[in-house]
Order: sequence, then C-alpha cells, then structure tokens
Amino acid sequence: MASLPRFIAIEGIDGAGTSTQCAKVADALRAAGHAVHTTREPSDNPIGLVIRHALTSAGRFDEKAMALLFAADRLDHMSREIEPAIQEGAIVLTDRYVMSSLAYQAELLGEPENGGWIATINRYARHADLTCFVDVDAGTALERRTQRGGPAERYDDHPLQERLVRRYRALQALVPKCVRIDGSAALDKVTQAILSHILRN
Ligand code: TYD
Repeated sequence: MASLPRFIAIEGIDGAGTSTQCAKVADALRAAGHAVHTTREPSDNPIGLVIRHALTSAGRFDEKAMALLFAADRLDHMSREIEPAIQEGAIVLTDRYVMSSLAYQAELLGEPENGGWIATINRYARHADLTCFVDVDAGTALERRTQRGGPAERYDDHPLQERLVRRYRALQALVPKCVRIDGSAALDKVTQAILSHILRN
C-alpha cells in the first residue's frame, strides 16, 4: 500500500479517452478506500483559464507563447493544487501533464523528441510517479471526437493528430515511468489496465 504512486498522469491524443479514464480510475480507487484528487491540464486555475480561452477563441496566440503558458500553468498547478493534495495524503490523478507539452508543443514548434526548449521550460515540473499513455490511432480518436460533439479546438486537426500519435509513441521510451495502455480496448478494459499498473507499483 505504502508504495502506491502518489502522482499519476493520464496522457494521449485528443479523443484517446483520458478524461473518461481519469474519472473511472478515480472511482475505482475511491471504492477501494483511497483518497483521490482528480485534476487536469490546462488547469482550472488562472493561467489554465487563459489557455482554455486561447484554445477555443478565434484569436491566435503565438505557439511559443502557448508553450510558455502551458509550462507556467503546470508549475502554478503543482504548487497551488497538486503538492498540497499529495501532502494531505491523496493520490493525485491528472488528465494530461508534461508529456502533452513534449508531444503537442514540440510537434508544433518542430522541436526534437529527446529534449530541446520544451523540455527546458518544463525542467522544474516534478516527475509523475507513473504516466499512463493511452494509445489509440488517429482515426479512432477522430470518430470519438465526432461522436462527442462540441466546438472544434485549436489542436483538433486530423493531420496534426496523426503526427501526435507518432510523437507520443516515440516519447514513451523517453518519459520516466511511462507505460503504454491499449486505448482501443473496451472502456472497462482500459480502466483495468491502468489500475493494474497503479496497484502493481
Ligand atoms: P483537453 O482538456 O484534453 O481537451 P478537451 O478540452 O477537449 O477535453 O486539452 C486541451 C488541449 O490542450 C488538447 O488539444 C491538448 C492541448 N495541450 C497541449 O497542447 N499542451 C499541454 O501541455 C496540455 C496540457 C494540453
């Protein structure tokens, strides 16, 4: 019990099911008696709200400025919300973390996979104890986004999502304590796969 990971990130492209899985994994952990704090990035804190506005508004933000906003939101999220929840004894589950920036912002800016400026500006972000990369192909993710509906977001573009799948797969070996989960399986199977990694730690 004492060795359960305290800080867990769920990652994947848009439509991979990270939000659904965060909620389902949190429910299962709570049912097993654990205190769980769920959160997401962009966060619901002030810098995250600026990012969410930029993701949906027609106004274009410079991509380098976006990269800095994601990194700033992350550090603020850590000190304001994640660290205090861990201190209080909760398991923190976040829907997206550093791997998202290493995939999205590095791809958008043409940065190398194994480092570069995106890694530098995220250097002070604490490593997750476990990162679960929910791997789906871009076609499956597109179908799910279409079914879900809602307004198009800045990075929803299908050709970009195809490139992001390749980024994520390459990053798997570079992000510490990262495991790949087959996200094309049935919802409950994906949840079980994530739980087995959390509980085996
Ligand atoms: P998300 O909240 O998962 O999307 P939705 O609002 O549809 O549930 O994430 C918002 C978008 O932000 C998504 O396209 C991924 C992107 N993103 C980055 O580009 N870099 C980052 O560091 C993070 C955390 C998210």
